[in-house]
Amino acid sequence: MRTEFRGRNVLITGGLGFIGSNLARRLVNMGARVTLLDGLIPHSGGNLFNIHGIERRVRVNISDVRNMHAVRWLVRDQDYLFNLAGHTSHIDSVDDPYTDLEINCRAQLSILEACRWHNPKVKVVFASTRQIYGKPESLPVGENHLLRPVDANGINKMAGEWYHVLYNNVFGVTACALRLTNTYGPRMRVKDARQTFLGFWIRRLIEGRPFEVWGGQQLRDFTYIDDAVDALLLAATEDSASGKVFNLGGDRAWSLKEVADLLVDINGGGKYRIGSFPRQRKRIDIGDYYADYGKINSELGWKPRVRLHTGLKKTLDYYRKHLKQYV
Ligand SMILES: NC(=O)c1ccc[n+]([C@@H]2O[C@H](COP(=O)([O-])OP(=O)(O)OC[C@H]3O[C@@H](n4cnc5c(N)ncnc54)[C@H](O)[C@@H]3O)[C@@H](O)[C@H]2O)c1
Repeated sequence: MRTEFRGRNVLITGGLGFIGSNLARRLVNMGARVTLLDGLIPHSGGNLFNIHGIERRVRVNISDVRNMHAVRWLVRDQDYLFNLAGHTSHIDSVDDPYTDLEINCRAQLSILEACRWHNPKVKVVFASTRQIYGKPESLPVGENHLLRPVDANGINKMAGEWYHVLYNNVFGVTACALRLTNTYGPRMRVKDARQTFLGFWIRRLIEGRPFEVWGGQQLRDFTYIDDAVDALLLAATEDSASGKVFNLGGDRAWSLKEVADLLVDINGGGKYRIGSFPRQRKRIDIGDYYADYGKINSELGWKPRVRLHTGLKKTLDYYRKHLKQYV
């Protein structure tokens, strides 16, 4: 893996966001020539501070994946494409399903068409989501679980994922997808609870303000960013991943109340209160979820290595230093 990316051309869509920028850091340290395509979309996690320290070692192209002309140009000559640009807010997809459709579905098709006609040799890894399962019928959730998304975001991400599999199987563009669960760590969006509750809890804790936990008993799993980056790199380099989808997961299932208690404990203090789900959120809540990541473990050798306690500590440390860049 260390030498695999040396001198290789890598394009990351959504590269100024949380996951993309952490991936970019790892890749430049491995000697890759990295281009970041990002539209710095309002309300996303896109933030120029995310590449602080590596800004001279990456090429940044501020453009939109909906612009098929820009995408067509940028995919040329790339060896790898990490396709992470996405409309991530479930609640925004309720209010504005069309933007979600344009980014998570139509633009994904344009990206794959650009690969098909202008660079069919590129290897593509797509960031899919556990949201496409909807409300689980059984736990832990494996890749063969029924797909029954509860919101437009889930439907559009599902279509985006399947286009990748289709282009792999029919048009020979090597592609695979990782179904990410709650991913957390330095550079995640903490401004509000639009993308993830955890980031917002972290912001409130650091500001010395109480945060609100909805319900509290729901189970979730969490992947630390370094583990997610490991999985993306593995998926890109292992030929056996082509055309497949893999769940990522975390060290174990946690209730939200347990996570809140852990955060307060690591922070050395802080307060939260248990509230009820806002009605709009309740309608699209998926209840309990945690993944079975046995497939990626047995086929690619990936497993989460960072325990939640360690990951949250690193995340809190980061935001204690840099919160003002993110709010
Ligand atoms: N973070 C998670 O917990 C999680 C969970 C499941 C799936 N994912 C998926 O992983 C990917 C990355 O997520 P993230 O957490 O880094 O989010 P993020 O919001 O931090 O990053 C996404 C980036 O994509 C960019 N972007 C969005 N629309 C764009 C467009 N039309 N053109 C160009 N750039 C655009 C944004 O500006 C942002 O920088 C997304 O596709 C998301 O659906 C993330």
